[in-house]
Amino acid sequence: MTGNLADKIGAFFTSQLMAKADEKADLSLFDNPEFYDKLQVLQSQANNEPVMLANTIVLFGRQVFTVVALFALLFPISPWIPLLLLVTTLPQAYISFGLQQSLWKTTVESSALARKMTYSSSIMLTNIYAKEVRLFGLGPLLQARFWEAFWTMYSGIRFVRIRQALWTSSLSILSTSGNAIAFYWVVRKAVLGDFGPGNVLLFLQSLAYIQENLANLVTDLSGLYGHLLYMQSYFAFINLQTSQKPVQFAKPVPLPFKQGVSFEKVSFSYPAGQETLRDISFVLKPGETVALVGENGAGKSTIVKLLSRLYDPTSGLIKVDNYEIHELDLKEWRDQLAVVFQDFCRYSFSVEENIALGNQELLDNEPRIKQAAESAGAMEFVCKLESAFKTQLGKQFEEGAELSGGEWQKLALARAFARKDKAQLLILDEPTSSLDPRSEYEVYRCFAELARGKTTLLITHRLAVTRLADRILVLKNGRLVEDGTHASLLACNGEYAALWRMQTERYGYG
Ligand SMILES: Nc1ncnc2c1ncn2[C@@H]1O[C@H](COP(=O)(O)OP(=O)(O)OP(=O)(O)O)[C@@H](O)[C@H]1O
Ligand SMILES: [Mg+2]
Repeated sequence: MTGNLADKIGAFFTSQLMAKADEKADLSLFDNPEFYDKLQVLQSQANNEPVMLANTIVLFGRQVFTVVALFALLFPISPWIPLLLLVTTLPQAYISFGLQQSLWKTTVESSALARKMTYSSSIMLTNIYAKEVRLFGLGPLLQARFWEAFWTMYSGIRFVRIRQALWTSSLSILSTSGNAIAFYWVVRKAVLGDFGPGNVLLFLQSLAYIQENLANLVTDLSGLYGHLLYMQSYFAFINLQTSQKPVQFAKPVPLPFKQGVSFEKVSFSYPAGQETLRDISFVLKPGETVALVGENGAGKSTIVKLLSRLYDPTSGLIKVDNYEIHELDLKEWRDQLAVVFQDFCRYSFSVEENIALGNQELLDNEPRIKQAAESAGAMEFVCKLESAFKTQLGKQFEEGAELSGGEWQKLALARAFARKDKAQLLILDEPTSSLDPRSEYEVYRCFAELARGKTTLLITHRLAVTRLADRILVLKNGRLVEDGTHASLLACNGEYAALWRMQTERYGYG
């Protein structure tokens, strides 16, 4: 197969995997380690396996043709010789199927180890970790982890390969014996004068040729089976049902919300974890700004994930007006959200792309991109960059610029603000945690304007900011313990009041 076609086939299969992963609208793909490992194997081999399958089919076809032609030649002279050769080869073919199966199973099972190896090497070979690796002297430790994973993986695969070699050589004795019997028979016939020199020559040449081709046939057959095992897993993934409701049955998202977004006795556990949220009930009324506070691990970001439908509640309901959130068309619902995640992404694209990814309609709309940057306080630093909004970011690209932590966060904020015209629900999870006091002040100074007409959920550890909110929700150990205004919560002297006192006493402000 020509290189160009092979490249295209590899790219097509990888792109199909990307499309399918994109179709899977929640995070379940990444939460199930077994499935995740399989996906990594599918991805890492998507470039080779389909091409190798096509090549093997061609080779296999050619071998079959040759063997059939040789059998047809010998059959009229002596039908039992081709049959004998075939029968003595069959066990080899049968065993090689089983061995291919074990090899595939071991490859999938050891992909967690392969991932550990890649992880250890990538920590040392990518710039994200370079500072800590050097400062803490992590090199030898990572090398040790890399080799530990390698030897564990290698010992598993080596065992299967040794078994394969032993079986193949043992069974080749059988096929060689078949050949020897046939050879003996031909020689005997020649000695008895039953075969003329022409037939003897034909037989002996054909025997050698058949043996070689049968051996190749078995190798190709087992290779073919190995590639088919890959394709079987590949198509099982491609045909996986997604949990998303078909669009024709989905309800339209209310535009605008009338009663708002409500949690009704919502509990949630992560797929492999304990209960993270328990019996949570609250309402985000249209146009309201609600602050969500609580200690680390209380479950605040988990609420953002439920609202974004990256997970569905284990029990209870999330409603938008009178509709349950999972009845709504998922894309339409997500179009209504402008979210800054706590662990926001840093895309190695240009500055303007980093902003417009929040609303792809803006990709060529410079004034709107600038407006979003302005609202996020990003204008000043972007204008100082060599090519301003056109600057490529990310050091892994030629002339890519690197930003500070706060500057990246400003771009994440701008990305959310780029959606503000179409989104009704603004969700900000610690949106200014990396910003300097002046930038933070500027963002919140514009906040009222940005949040106008939107329903806003603002997660923050800086209690001074909660005064911008109409209401405050306090989460503790996965339970909603308080819900009220700043004044009412201070008056009731509970969890919020305690947190407030702590911040005001230590820093002199809330
Ligand atoms: N993907 C996940 N799988 C399993 N458990 C998770 C996952 N993400 C979070 N958790 C667990 O859920 C709990 C709540 O996490 P969450 O991120 O919601 O806390 P948080 O209130 O946002 O904390 P913080 O203030 O530190 O941001 C934590 O104990 C965490 O270990
Ligand atoms: Mg969080």
